[in-house]
Order: sequence, then C-alpha cells, then structure tokens
Amino acid sequence: MAEIGLFDAMYSARSLRRLKPDPVSDAIITKILDAAIRAPSAGNAQHWAFIVVRDAEQRRKLGAIYRKASDIASAIYRARGRPAHMTEAQYRRFLASGAYLWDHMGEAPVLLVPCLRERPPPPREALPPSVEAIYEQELAYERRIRGASIYPAVQNIILACRAFGLGTLITTNHIRCEDEVKAVLGLPEDVSTYALMPIGYPVGKFGPLARRPVQEVTYADRWGTVWGAEPGATASAEARTRTQAG
Ligand SMILES: Cc1cc2nc3c(=O)[nH]c(=O)nc-3n(C[C@H](O)[C@H](O)[C@H](O)COP(=O)(O)O)c2cc1C
Repeated sequence: MAEIGLFDAMYSARSLRRLKPDPVSDAIITKILDAAIRAPSAGNAQHWAFIVVRDAEQRRKLGAIYRKASDIASAIYRARGRPAHMTEAQYRRFLASGAYLWDHMGEAPVLLVPCLRERPPPPREALPPSVEAIYEQELAYERRIRGASIYPAVQNIILACRAFGLGTLITTNHIRCEDEVKAVLGLPEDVSTYALMPIGYPVGKFGPLARRPVQEVTYADRWGTVWGAEPGATASAEARTRTQAG
C-alpha cells in the first residue's frame, strides 16, 4: 500500500462513522498503536493503556452504553443549536452522521479505548512549603492538563488509520456512563477511558476537511489583531487590527 503524505492525511482524515464489518488484522492494529505511543505525555509518563475490543459481545455491550449516553448528548446538541460557521445543510449532515453511530457503534469490527492511569501529584507533605501552600491550585492544574497526555495519541491513531485506509474518529459520549464502561472492560479503579474509537474499513470516502479559516481563528501577538498570512505564504503579512474583535 502506497504511503500517504502527512499533510494529505491531516487534510483528509475526516470522521468516518459508517464502517464495513470486514475484520482488521492484528498486525495493522499493532502498527496503529505503535504510532499512538510515539505521542507526547506529561513528564513522559506514558501512563496510557489501550483496550482493543474485537469480541462481539463486548462490542455489543459498549455499543449499548454509547447509545444510552448519546441520548444525553443529543439533548445537549438540540439545546445548543447550530454553530455559526456551519450551514443548515452541513449541520443536518453532521447530526445525521452522529445519530447513525448511536445505533451502530457496536458493529465496528474494532472498538479501541484509549485510557489513562491516574497520576496524582506527590502528597502534600512531600512538597516544599511554597508549593504545599498552593496544593489545590496544583490539583486543578493536573485536572486541566490530564487529557493532554492521551489526546495526542488519539490523533496519531486517527492519522495512522488514515494511512492504512481505515475509518475512525474520536468519540467521547460514553464517558457520561464511565462506570458502566469500566465494568464491561474490567478497568482498575485508577484507570479511566478518554475515547471510544470505532475502527474499520469505511463505506464512504476520506476528506476533504472543511474548517474555519486560519485567519478567523488566529491572532498576531494579542487577542484581536488579525493574523494576515495566507496559507502557504512565505512572508508574514502585516497584521491588521480587527474591527470587530472576537
Ligand atoms: C473531544 C471530542 C469529542 C467528540 N465526541 C464525539 C462523539 O461522542 N460522537 C461523535 O459522533 N463524534 C464525536 N466527535 C467528533 C466530532 O463530531 C468531529 O470531530 C467534528 O464533527 C469534525 O468532523 P470532521 O473531522 O469529519 O470534519 C468528537 C470530537 C472531539 C474532538
């Protein structure tokens, strides 16, 4: 199989929710995970674990939990409404694609569950007084960055799947029913799941990925000052001040 370029992969690895039931070889799954573990983690702790679920009954159970959790997600989506950058048609397609997965998660030949073991800071008394005094702040910091030690690995999985012509996406709805997921997978108390990724050969096609443009989401030096360079431009364009900041 010809290797896809990195940028081609990044630009076309869209969320593919309709997957064929054809099996995916263990060798390919191992290569995907070998790419996943090249990702960074805080303090290089590598406190991750990946559960590869192929057993039909296990997939059925996880699928049922995803279905249940998605009822909550769908109520949230209804209340939140369409993001301004999406057209009505795009939003309808997005909702329909998401809803398809509610009923079909368990049918993907592989369900991959990236997990992290808890990594609490050292006990308060082991710290110097200056840090002990701000221990709660340190706990909040740890909570804030926790996911950043697994989601880079998730993105590597998405790109590695793309390289092998496999469809996948990151889903998180199941976390709303985390205890049930942990019971099905037999996870230790201090291990949590961060994503549920169906993997399989796709029914639909890859990319291209539509996104809000760089200029709309990037500022130069401070909030509100437009980043002006076109993608691919070699010299940075002069920054202009946005008239309507935001
Ligand atoms: C943190 C996070 C959680 C997500 N959870 C779900 C989910 O539970 N179910 C789902 O179908 N898609 C989920 N997605 C996928 C998004 O809907 C998808 O990335 C977005 O619509 C862009 O799709 P595209 O890459 O195909 O353009 C999630 C994405 C992220 C980043």
